[in-house]
Amino acid sequence: MKILVINGPNLNMLGIREKEIYGEKSYAELCAFIDACCAEESAACEIYQSNHEGAIVDRIQQAYGSEDAIVINPAAYTHTSVAILDALRAVALPAVEVHLSRLSGRESFRQISYISPACEKTIEGKGFEGYREAIRFLTREKKKD
Ligand code: DQA
Repeated sequence: MKILVINGPNLNMLGIREKEIYGEKSYAELCAFIDACCAEESAACEIYQSNHEGAIVDRIQQAYGSEDAIVINPAAYTHTSVAILDALRAVALPAVEVHLSRLSGRESFRQISYISPACEKTIEGKGFEGYREAIRFLTREKKKD
């Protein structure tokens, strides 16, 4: 199984941005963690980060026919992007939405996800571990389908 992991805007600033919310660890550490989680599940893994909505749409479209599943943390685009929702629906790959922080305890504008209707599962508030849970769900549960 080949998994595409997409991280949206400002996640490249992990370890620098709002450490009280997102923690001390860097984006490079997150990528190493994701690689290790995929290796544990014997899945091939491609990690993509962009601060640009259209670039994320392009990358999702490229996954059609080349990747089997998507883990996505759309970051701020979670709360605004119909284009990312439509791209996920267009490729129709199994997808899981991940958020490092617990959105339900944050500002009201973070309570809406435009992305979750295109995802089989949403995991929030578990930090890096949320990515492991998403990868396990896609490799273990989806394999049964
Ligand atoms: C986030 C939550 C979003 O509301 C925020 O805009 C982010 C990161 C998270 O991982 O907790 O940039 O997706």
